[in-house]
Amino acid sequence: MHLIIGASGRLGRYIAENLLQRGEQVKAVSRDPEKLASLKSKGAKIVQGDLRDPSWMDGTLRNVQYLFIAAHGLVPPSRRNTIDTVDDTGNRYLIDAAKRAGVQHIIFTSVHQAHPNAPMKFARIKYKIEEYLKASGVDYTIVRPSAFIETHAIFRLAEPIQRTGKVTLIGDVTTPVMWISAADVADYMVDNIENPEMKNSTKVISGPDILSQVQVIEIIEQLLGKKAKLSRIPNGFLHAVRILSRPLHPGISNLLEAALMTTKKNGQQSMQLDWTAPASVADVVYKWIVDTN
Ligand SMILES: NC(=O)c1ccc[n+]([C@@H]2O[C@H](COP(=O)([O-])OP(=O)(O)OC[C@H]3O[C@@H](n4cnc5c(N)ncnc54)[C@H](OP(=O)(O)O)[C@@H]3O)[C@@H](O)[C@H]2O)c1
Repeated sequence: MHLIIGASGRLGRYIAENLLQRGEQVKAVSRDPEKLASLKSKGAKIVQGDLRDPSWMDGTLRNVQYLFIAAHGLVPPSRRNTIDTVDDTGNRYLIDAAKRAGVQHIIFTSVHQAHPNAPMKFARIKYKIEEYLKASGVDYTIVRPSAFIETHAIFRLAEPIQRTGKVTLIGDVTTPVMWISAADVADYMVDNIENPEMKNSTKVISGPDILSQVQVIEIIEQLLGKKAKLSRIPNGFLHAVRILSRPLHPGISNLLEAALMTTKKNGQQSMQLDWTAPASVADVVYKWIVDTN
């Protein structure tokens, strides 16, 4: 049995669908089971669960061999569902429960930037949970992917351009970023689930492209056959909102910190990879255009 936390999200849904296509047994978790109707129709068992409340975990984890953790509390920004309550405390509840239940292997989705001294709090929490998982004694694979094309190129850029012809940009738009398809991340996790090289190791993965937001927009414009009207929210204004919102609304503050973290200083050109995923930004945008027409 495979259990997926974050099964309604981009990566978690791909993991669940991939496993179901292979005839594997899947339990999928969401705070709102209605979001998992399509996975239910494909044979998944649906569980209502919230990482902030451990009461459901022991029962649900019984007889689970593989636990995939693909949730996070960064978006949508919320006062209570935050990176502290979900990614930090919630993941620790889950790892403790998995250990009690005798789960064989945990596959944890981290981020490229995970480091104890990372400038971004989200990446420091990811690192902390990586270490917590390693110390748990349960077999693990930590996967550190780069930015998801489906989220940061399609949802944030291509969808508004297709719908309205306009898009609002934030962060440093000319800084190169490493990109990967969430579908490729799911394939990598599922294909390698029994690969002994994956056991108790950390894998840094990305796709073939290192492109700035501006370069991604050029690809989208070319494939959609239309020019986009671009507007910018100044970084200085967003930094001020990030600092002012911290005590009142930590969710907004954390999300702005993540959005503003792509700076020239943090450019990711030199990251050493354990695997290069096949799909380029253009491949994924092209497929999305075909699928939505
Ligand atoms: N997006 C990226 O570019 C990127 C890059 C590298 C790594 N990652 C990592 O990849 C993983 C998946 O990201 P994604 O972008 O695919 O996610 P996503 O589409 O934004 O979905 C977020 C998921 O988290 C779940 N979640 C949020 N709060 C929860 C809570 N309190 N309890 C249980 N589940 C909760 C949501 O489930 P419900 O709302 O249904 O409960 C949803 O399924 C995350 O760990 C993320 O940090 C993402």
